[in-house]
Amino acid sequence: MLLLDVSTRSFRNLSEARIELGRRTTVLFGPNGQGKTNFLEACHLLCTLRPLRAQKLAELVRIGSEQSALVRGRFELSGGVREVEVEVGREGRSARVDGKTVRDPDELFGGLATVAFTPDDLAVVKGGPEGRRKLLDRAAQNRHPSHLADSREYLRALRARNELLRQDAPPDLLASFDEPLARLGANVRRRREQVLEEIRPHAQQAFAEVARGEAPLELVYLAAGRDSDGLAGAGAALADRLLGALRRRLPRDRERGYTSVGPHADDLGLSLGERAARLYASQGQSRAIVLAFKIGEIENLKSVQGRAPLLLLDDVSSELDPARNAFLMAYLAALDGQVVLTTTDPKLVAKTAVLEAVFQRVEGGRIAPENVLFSE
Ligand SMILES: Nc1ncnc2c1ncn2[C@@H]1O[C@H](COP(=O)(O)OP(=O)(O)OP(=O)(O)O)[C@@H](O)[C@H]1O
Ligand SMILES: [Mg+2]
Repeated sequence: MLLLDVSTRSFRNLSEARIELGRRTTVLFGPNGQGKTNFLEACHLLCTLRPLRAQKLAELVRIGSEQSALVRGRFELSGGVREVEVEVGREGRSARVDGKTVRDPDELFGGLATVAFTPDDLAVVKGGPEGRRKLLDRAAQNRHPSHLADSREYLRALRARNELLRQDAPPDLLASFDEPLARLGANVRRRREQVLEEIRPHAQQAFAEVARGEAPLELVYLAAGRDSDGLAGAGAALADRLLGALRRRLPRDRERGYTSVGPHADDLGLSLGERAARLYASQGQSRAIVLAFKIGEIENLKSVQGRAPLLLLDDVSSELDPARNAFLMAYLAALDGQVVLTTTDPKLVAKTAVLEAVFQRVEGGRIAPENVLFSE
């Protein structure tokens, strides 16, 4: 699969134009605040129907625009070229493939796997569990595109139950939400754990290569209620065990006004040897952990899908130290896949990694091809 070109309308600060992408590497360069990350967001939305960094989809619509935001892209697949269109307006998001409406990313030719690496990811190790859940959910969606629909349905049921908890609703009304919540929650968790199992060996190997001589990277799924409610493993009768936990915790949840167990409350435990990375990892180690996880994800997708995902790299070179940057560039050079990356200084991107690269200058929302000459 190749993303051939991308055009946008009323999308953040980007001008209306069709941007051609390289078959291997596209380098978007320009000063701060010009629209480089915005373009990556457009690519991400096109492939996953999910925002890359926006908290709300409405942020994507150009400020002051009467029109909805639109992103259109052409993909080259073994069966020919297909056009995907994603529109974000007041009524939410809609998507079409060759003009025909699709609801979920699994209808986009079985899902377009996309791995993004952004400066925000660096907070994943040290920050709260939400960022780590997102890391797992994105990986799960790449493997099983229907994960997005399940997660959304789960969150809808969860919100409804929380609302009822706060309103002190009668027990039988609350109980009617528990069964679907437990069933959907079990699906969400099972997929996360499956993808974690797959990624783990690849991520551990990548970490050993990035951070030579450090303690090994350990990744474990930490379910809420793993000790108190018998929710440690995702194995047999998970939905029943979740249902039991929801019922047992009802009095407490009522007091607090929220549901305290389920995949929305779980975490991904990251540690270096015995030490929890959240508490003990240095900045550099945190970066290496995230980098290793993403490389693990790419390697896993390559081995199960037979092709590398589309890689979106936002400003990575400036975030990594020289040794890790060199590692990443060598990895990219050897990766047989399509990469779109942004940088303020195209010279930061090593020459070896940008063979066959297409360079695009980004300025005030306008993107235009421009040759970059590397002096020897
Ligand atoms: N919805 C929107 N409508 C109009 N402009 C927007 C919208 N959202 C963001 N912008 C503008 O887009 C610009 C930011 O673009 P972007 O984040 O892509 O910058 P960048 O080139 O990646 O910069 P940096 O190198 O600092 O990361 C800002 O000027 C911001 O005000
Ligand atoms: Mg940026």
